[in-house]
Amino acid sequence: MEIALLLSKEHPTLPLAEVRAVLECEGIKYYIKEKQEGLLILEIPLESPENMSGIIKRLSFTHEVFQILIEVDEEQLLGKTKEYPWDNIVKSDYAVRVKKMDKKSHFNTSKLEWEMGSIIKDNVASEIRVNLENPSTFIRTVLINGKAFVGQRMGQISKKHFFDLKPHKRPFFYPGSMSPKLARGMVNLTRIRMGETLLDPFCGTGGILIEAGIIGARVIGTDIDYKMVKGSIENLQHCGIHDYQVFQEDARKLELPSKVDAIVTDPPYGISASTRGEKSQDLYQQSMQSLQELLKEDGHMCLATPHYLDLDGVLEGTKFKIIEQHHIRMHKSLTRVISVLAKI
Ligand SMILES: C[S@@+](CC[C@H](N)C(=O)[O-])C[C@H]1O[C@@H](n2cnc3c(N)ncnc32)[C@H](O)[C@@H]1O
Repeated sequence: MEIALLLSKEHPTLPLAEVRAVLECEGIKYYIKEKQEGLLILEIPLESPENMSGIIKRLSFTHEVFQILIEVDEEQLLGKTKEYPWDNIVKSDYAVRVKKMDKKSHFNTSKLEWEMGSIIKDNVASEIRVNLENPSTFIRTVLINGKAFVGQRMGQISKKHFFDLKPHKRPFFYPGSMSPKLARGMVNLTRIRMGETLLDPFCGTGGILIEAGIIGARVIGTDIDYKMVKGSIENLQHCGIHDYQVFQEDARKLELPSKVDAIVTDPPYGISASTRGEKSQDLYQQSMQSLQELLKEDGHMCLATPHYLDLDGVLEGTKFKIIEQHHIRMHKSLTRVISVLAKI
């Protein structure tokens, strides 16, 4: 079957990388049929849809996922919509929504929504009604590059979650906290699965731990500053995460009773977050020495660093190798580099 994902356009590489990582760790085989700005079309095995709801729930850089029912050139859209057996799909109330992904289409979206809605109405049982507020079946149409994709929505990603959990809305706030969306994306890039253990050795206000906790990971956080430890615990409790351990420790000397499945972290940049008077490069180098022993053999680490840090230098002589990188421009003088590391 074919599914379409409406990807966030806020970053050129992160949304696709996140989808790939999550499908991979959930064991879903896929083939990328098409990739255009903001739209990804995948072919997945027929038996996969049951697993898709868990996948959709954990994504952060995707807006919506739908199963493709019709794929045609735009001019043939209404004709094909008339021929489609809608009574197999629409069993109770429904809505049709159209999204133009570029300026090429000549369609007026609200007129097209109305026209498609009427065609469907003529092809289903007479008691079935349109419900624009909360339909049981949501028909999504996407117009892009002269083509139309029509499908049934499988799920959408809640913007509200990422908005409600913004760092300044949590009980404990400290400048330099990471956005929940990026934190979730970084967690996903490590390919961690539900029930596995994730470590953030520079946990600050606990934003990464919260996102990992929400997708069902057990979380361990440490920070050298006791104020942050207390604050992280307060934030985790506020977000309903109970399976956590957070304690005060120096990442350079960290030891744990057993290995973790993933590490996600955002160490100090030497600007806003305290490095306790130490140069970032040395802090990173020493921390990597202890962290490489704490990660399981096939585990991944996802790390946010400033562009000016020599990450290759930091990793030299360690068991880590960079497998992918994404650059996020924060402002004129800072680009964040998100790196996924594997153990060699
Ligand atoms: C950039 S902040 C982390 C922000 C976090 N991602 C958040 O969303 O709040 C870096 C944190 O590293 C901590 N830190 C600095 N040196 C450390 C060390 N040697 N070991 C552990 N934590 C350290 C700081 O106290 C700070 O809370």
